[in-house]
Amino acid sequence: LYHLNGDVQELRQLAPPSRAIIITDVHVWAAHQHHFDGYRHLVLDAGEAQKSWKTIEDLAAQLLQMGAHRGTTLVGIGGGTITDITGFLASVYMRGIDFGFVPTTLLGMVDASIGGKNGINMGPNKNMIGTIRQPRFILHDNQLLHSLPDAEWSNGFAEVIKYGCIADVRILKTLEISDLGWFRKYPGKLSELIVGCVDVKNKIVSADEQESGLRKILNFGHTAAHAFERVCGLSHGQAVGLGMLVACRISEQFAGLDSGFRTQLEQILKRYGLPTALEFDVHQVAGLLRSDKKRTDDAIDFVVLPRPGVAHTRLLPFAAVEEALQSFSRASDR
Ligand SMILES: NC(=O)c1ccc[n+]([C@@H]2O[C@H](COP(=O)([O-])OP(=O)(O)OC[C@H]3O[C@@H](n4cnc5c(N)ncnc54)[C@H](O)[C@@H]3O)[C@@H](O)[C@H]2O)c1
Repeated sequence: LYHLNGDVQELRQLAPPSRAIIITDVHVWAAHQHHFDGYRHLVLDAGEAQKSWKTIEDLAAQLLQMGAHRGTTLVGIGGGTITDITGFLASVYMRGIDFGFVPTTLLGMVDASIGGKNGINMGPNKNMIGTIRQPRFILHDNQLLHSLPDAEWSNGFAEVIKYGCIADVRILKTLEISDLGWFRKYPGKLSELIVGCVDVKNKIVSADEQESGLRKILNFGHTAAHAFERVCGLSHGQAVGLGMLVACRISEQFAGLDSGFRTQLEQILKRYGLPTALEFDVHQVAGLLRSDKKRTDDAIDFVVLPRPGVAHTRLLPFAAVEEALQSFSRASDR
């Protein structure tokens, strides 16, 4: 399945142009189309808004027109938006055809392409429609990241930092002595980091493909993050970084996490261009959290860290989360 540290030219063996169709977006195609001479391709506009029924309908119609059949392989080349769309489309087109991914964002490599979840949005409700189905292959070529804008690197690093927090302190140690520029300069180090993250997500996902338990720890920092993202217009990575800081406060209170870790995490977030403070309306954010699907009555399922590198879910009183948001907001105000 995995071709980590690979070369994009391996695609010609994995999915030859005669039976493959590429799905990608305008940015990726503009920067990298020269690698894919001879492939039929469908190029979408960039951005989350593409993850819609309309896109799936349009793409399916175009596939039919191109004569795509049960023996065709769809290849998603792009970030998480493209791999989600490709995986979902391939799962439903003609009741399911073969697909593979060439992730081109750090987030795509360490997160979105792994685990078999493929989803589209329904308006503001993210990933409401989807399937769980594994790609036949995932091909990494770190050269593809050269064109990635800084903000997208930071988005990916938020998830890298998360893996360190929930499962592997070695990742945190590496992050503490490096920064974005360093990883760009030493591709071998970047590869090691990516492989470590893929390993973490894979282990968690293969132990719990249907998300009944363990997989929930991947949501560390994401409960508050989703609300920050919607209310404050932050990028996903920025929101996840801040959400992890809120989750640390809660972990200190309910799971015995040493408060020194929060300071350590702040330093790491800064190194990767992520914010550590935010002015926001606590009531508005808490209101959104109350309507979160993970909430039952006055309690909320929350991922906490008893210590760095270890995570589990706890059902917490909603008031405790609101209190942590209050204190985070006050601290940000200083
Ligand atoms: N299925 C899952 O398990 C899973 C997990 C996490 C996230 N996701 C999904 O992933 C999506 C976010 O993924 P993303 O952050 O990769 O965003 P994205 O795919 O929207 O890409 C972000 C931006 O970077 C551009 N880009 C991508 N690769 C590039 C490159 N090599 N050079 C220059 N520009 C490039 C894109 O065109 C886009 O503008 C969300 O929709 C999220 O729901 C899915």
